[in-house]
Amino acid sequence: MGWGMKNRMSKLFRADGHCFFLPIDHGYFQGPTRCLERPGETIRPLLPYCDALFVTRGVLRSCVDPCINVPIILRVSGGTSMVGKDLANESLTTSIEEIIRLNVSAVGISIFVGSDYERKTLQNLAQLVNECEKYSIPVMAVTAVGKETEKREARYLALSCRIAAELGARVVKTYWCAKDFDKVVNGCPVPVVMAGGPKCKTEREVFDFVYDGMQKGAVGINLGRNVWQNPHPVAVAKALEAIIHKNATAEEAEALFNEMKSSK
Ligand code: 5RP
Repeated sequence: MGWGMKNRMSKLFRADGHCFFLPIDHGYFQGPTRCLERPGETIRPLLPYCDALFVTRGVLRSCVDPCINVPIILRVSGGTSMVGKDLANESLTTSIEEIIRLNVSAVGISIFVGSDYERKTLQNLAQLVNECEKYSIPVMAVTAVGKETEKREARYLALSCRIAAELGARVVKTYWCAKDFDKVVNGCPVPVVMAGGPKCKTEREVFDFVYDGMQKGAVGINLGRNVWQNPHPVAVAKALEAIIHKNATAEEAEALFNEMKSSK
């Protein structure tokens, strides 16, 4: 790994090798997602706890202070919507010149393995890696499932993660699964970060799956709705940070969450 790539990767991960990415990219296909109507206001209190922001160029330019000291992962795939025919039919949305101009630490792109657009989205990934590697910009692949949430099982996730890594992703973001998540992580030769999905019923559910995933080898999280759609987003962020960076258990994280929640 060259100096530039190492430097950018070191901005995304703390010295412990772990990371807490905060995604606020949902609007690129969902529109004004609940609690993300004003992204700048949503993220402001959460910035001290997260290691990078995952965001599109539109929100970056209009809602994020260019002077913040938090690395940016730029979402560079899109072109579909919740009401369109197929969420998987994504293209690359952002040129390499724009990626460089925005001075980001990494880029993120979705792949849809097993969909009608498998080949197209894998080619998007390969093309992006070819461009970004010229400038030592790491690519994070997102193993997306669109509306087919039943695909969140180990065999499918392991297949998607491995393909993403083989095509050159430096980091892979995927879903946690209750059974055999260690097989997903072990089959992927680059760091695996866990996504969240729709908001869980309780905070404890979130702390449990994040703790379990970390024990099974994930290096961190890229968790959005379970943080900023919670009525106490700062308390959730602090509790998650404790699991990711301070070896807290799910019980300890829940205690921290309850303490923070009632200390207002
Ligand atoms: C959307 C994304 C999001 O970054 C990802 O889904 C994480 O957010 P959440 O925890 O809300 O699911 O890639 O395609």
